[in-house]
Amino acid sequence: MKNVHRIEDYFTIKYRHKIFFTENVFSQENYILKNILEKDANSKALIVIDNGVVENNNTLLSSIAEYFNSVSIVSKCVTITGGEAIKNNLDKLIKVLSLIDKNHIDRHSYLIGIGGGAVLDITGFAAAIAHRGIRYIRIPTTTLAQCDSGVGIKNGLNLFGKKNFIGTFYPPIAVINDFNFLNSLSQRDKRSGLAEVVKIALIKNKKLFEEVQLLSDRLNSFEPSAMKSVIIKCAQLHFDHIVNGGDPFETGNSKPLDFGHWSAHKLEQISKFKIKHGEAVAAGIAIDTLYSANIGFIKPTTAKTIIDQLIKLGFQIYYPEIEIKDSNGKLIILEGLDEFREHLGGNLSITLLKGIGKSIQVNNIQLDLVEKSLNQLRNYC
Ligand SMILES: NC(=O)c1ccc[n+]([C@@H]2O[C@H](COP(=O)([O-])OP(=O)(O)OC[C@H]3O[C@@H](n4cnc5c(N)ncnc54)[C@H](O)[C@@H]3O)[C@@H](O)[C@H]2O)c1
Ligand SMILES: [Zn+2]
Repeated sequence: MKNVHRIEDYFTIKYRHKIFFTENVFSQENYILKNILEKDANSKALIVIDNGVVENNNTLLSSIAEYFNSVSIVSKCVTITGGEAIKNNLDKLIKVLSLIDKNHIDRHSYLIGIGGGAVLDITGFAAAIAHRGIRYIRIPTTTLAQCDSGVGIKNGLNLFGKKNFIGTFYPPIAVINDFNFLNSLSQRDKRSGLAEVVKIALIKNKKLFEEVQLLSDRLNSFEPSAMKSVIIKCAQLHFDHIVNGGDPFETGNSKPLDFGHWSAHKLEQISKFKIKHGEAVAAGIAIDTLYSANIGFIKPTTAKTIIDQLIKLGFQIYYPEIEIKDSNGKLIILEGLDEFREHLGGNLSITLLKGIGKSIQVNNIQLDLVEKSLNQLRNYC
């Protein structure tokens, strides 16, 4: 073809992904954060904290103020409401963006998000788009955020009734998990994140599943050393997938870490987010585990072992919301498959189990077998 002038080359951006596990991140002796912040005269930090964390930790705000004074960094702490509801409109995102503006947070300043997955999604998104990207540090404070969402490099908000419809891939400059924050969590939020531990164990690491089996009672009572052990391993497996998996920005057709999530995201939405993400993931795992057995990938006894384990951890694996139908008599939860396909672009790709610790991607889901799995799950309960 004539009249075409083409300019083309590759360019590469290198990221260093850092996850720390510690306790008392804001005690004067703890140097993790101090070592990350560059102590130049212009450094400023805006710290956005989940209200659930502040309300349950009386001395937190004063500890943070003292910590930043000691490193001579101008800081401003702001509390925002936590929980899934803040992801359902743009209000909190705009609030964080306006705080970035008012406090003159520039590309050499820091935005530090402290909270559960929802607050981290909002702050991560704001950091990604303000000034086309400001330095972002995450301090996850829930089981789920420490073992899964906070470890990753993406963020998302719900729009048009669809989970995580908008968002970006934006690696934080560091993630600092402080186990002490877990002490003030509600039992529901302590448990919820364990679903992601079971998920990653099932698709990637049989040994972790066996550890969860062994620690069942201790995890059920949220014993700190048992929780720490599985959180670190779960985070490590998510980390390995991002750093060594070859597709950190999910440009391919599949989301292999999202086992059990096509139905989980829909279930959260059908329940108007009364069912928490991790709770929905536990039910989603049960659905896709039964489907994996029904399609012949795993033995029914393996499926039973997995579902029994979820129940042992205290999860409800069936919700009446699963059965809600639309005006055409179609189960609404099945729309989750279309939304998954649309989110990924191209072909549908769903992660199923080939065994404990072994996954397989499939491009076709048989709706009759999904319905069979849903019925089995109802009967199971
Ligand atoms: N971006 C990602 O890659 C990714 C991955 C998985 C999940 N997520 C998202 O994460 C969200 C779920 O996160 P979550 O399970 O952390 O729940 P959450 O953020 O909804 O928080 C749950 C509740 O715990 C409170 N809270 C947080 N920390 C606390 C503490 N230390 N003490 C007392 N209360 C505290 C919050 O205020 C909130 O009420 C979902 O929106 C999900 O979509 C994102
Ligand atoms: Zn999840």
